[in-house]
Amino acid sequence: MALPERRSSPQVTLRPAAPRDADLLRQWRSEASVRRFQPLNELPTAQLRADVASQRMADLYRGRGEKFQWIVQVDGQPAGWITLVVSNWEHGLAEVGYALATVFQNRGVMSDALAVLLDDLYHNTLLERIEARCAVENIGSQRVLEKSGFEREGCLRGYFKLRGRRMDNYLYSLLREDYLAQREGPG
Ligand SMILES: CC(C)(COP(=O)(O)OP(=O)(O)OC[C@H]1O[C@@H](n2cnc3c(N)ncnc32)[C@H](O)[C@@H]1OP(=O)(O)O)[C@@H](O)C(=O)NCCC(=O)NCCS
Repeated sequence: MALPERRSSPQVTLRPAAPRDADLLRQWRSEASVRRFQPLNELPTAQLRADVASQRMADLYRGRGEKFQWIVQVDGQPAGWITLVVSNWEHGLAEVGYALATVFQNRGVMSDALAVLLDDLYHNTLLERIEARCAVENIGSQRVLEKSGFEREGCLRGYFKLRGRRMDNYLYSLLREDYLAQREGPG
């Protein structure tokens, strides 16, 4: 793949993942930089396709459903993904996860993508608390969360095993009221 032209302000957009994205998702998940700080199972394209095919994006806006996935696009080119797993609709709890293909990393893309998603989630859904976790060594991910307004709440010791080593994770969250106060200010 040709390296995308580096531009100071690429246009970052999101679209719901579709079955046709399954092979791209499989390729991205196999990249060394994408796996560096997170344990990702080797999933066959067929399973990734079935997962995406079963999502009903309209459910998110009706307070139903568990797992939702978007493709991050940079100037219209697929660049990575974001997933949202809702653990409890009654209390408005969900967790976000994300990754960019290697060639799209370190260009400020994920902060822009999260800004688009958070704006939608906190204006158009019943979610109240969005969490994210990342390995304590994943400085880039921590920066993205902090730039996006998330607060670090604590350290989850030995949270997962990566290449035979147990890794501590940081837990971050962003509450709806904090998000709206940060973005829209008082009044
Ligand atoms: C982590 C990831 C999502 C970050 O998104 P991104 O768009 O590449 O992030 P940015 O370009 O905004 O860079 C993040 C910031 O971290 C900084 N950073 C990255 N690695 C760093 C390091 N090792 N030490 C210090 N700072 C670092 C960058 O300089 C940048 O700082 P800035 O915002 O002050 O300019 C992306 O790199 C990625 O997909 N990585 C692989 C998959 C992954 O780790 N997913 C997250 C799992 S929790």
